[in-house]
Amino acid sequence: MTVLDEAPPARQGTTLLSLRGTTKRFGAVRALTDVDLDVAAGEVVALVGDNGAGKSTLVKVMSGAGPAEAGTIEFDGTAVSIPTPGAAQALGIATVFQDLALCDNLDVVSNLFLGSETVNGLVLDEVDMERRSWTLLRELSAKIPSVRTRVAGLSGGQRQVVAIARSLLGNPKIVMLDEPTAALGVAQTAQVLNLIERLRERGLGVVLISHNLADVLAVADRIVVLRLGRNAGEFRVGEATQNDIVAAITGSSDNAVTERAARKAPPSPSDTDDPENTGQETAQ
Ligand SMILES: Nc1ncnc2c1ncn2[C@@H]1O[C@H](COP(=O)(O)OP(=O)(O)O)[C@@H](O)[C@H]1O
Ligand SMILES: [Mg+2]
Repeated sequence: MTVLDEAPPARQGTTLLSLRGTTKRFGAVRALTDVDLDVAAGEVVALVGDNGAGKSTLVKVMSGAGPAEAGTIEFDGTAVSIPTPGAAQALGIATVFQDLALCDNLDVVSNLFLGSETVNGLVLDEVDMERRSWTLLRELSAKIPSVRTRVAGLSGGQRQVVAIARSLLGNPKIVMLDEPTAALGVAQTAQVLNLIERLRERGLGVVLISHNLADVLAVADRIVVLRLGRNAGEFRVGEATQNDIVAAITGSSDNAVTERAARKAPPSPSDTDDPENTGQETAQ
């Protein structure tokens, strides 16, 4: 196991993960119907949609926590199946679930290495783990006062950073974050958005689930909208206004047609609200 800076960055722009026709039911509920999703190296894809749209179900398909009934998955150009979390991990797909699953009573180092501790003979190699924790957090420009701080004493943003850092220890190619800023204030949100940008710089593909459009517009490259378990629109950030996205989320206009047209034709300058500026000034 190596830390992030020892991982060779994937080539930017290469499609890493490709889902086609993903379909999943829970009894009579059609949670996902024929959903497509692509994630490229060095790209932040925001997955947005109303409650019940199928976002978490789709993440579970990709993380091996709840395989689909139908559909295909390609990883790095090869057809794969992801029947278990172990299979996702082996492929290089890491997930930070919303509850983070950190141990409050343990310090940052112990949380990072929980279940994959470095041993030196029969004892834990605390020095090595501490050094690698510092390296990783510095690499991520994470502001954690001390790696020996108990997680209970950290802010929500710092906890999120620790959970994301932990997900990177297996050198994944894709990281999926479920609502990483949902419980955070402005400064902490900026810290997490900065971290997401670090991941992209490293060539990782990032899937960001968020209902906060300001965050999405600040950090994503592409926005994929789900509605009632189906693809309901796809936008490049900078080519869509917040209104376009909200319309796709709520289905309030006949957007399936207009978006396809918008995707094919280059947008006129008047179509954009300069969303690149949204929220970016809070990120340093
Ligand atoms: N374990 C489950 N059992 C039954 N229905 C489920 C289960 N998980 C999700 N669903 C249903 O599938 C649909 C999509 O849910 P979900 O993926 O959680 O949406 P989102 O994350 O976008 O809010 C919803 O109608 C939800 O009620
Ligand atoms: Mg959900």
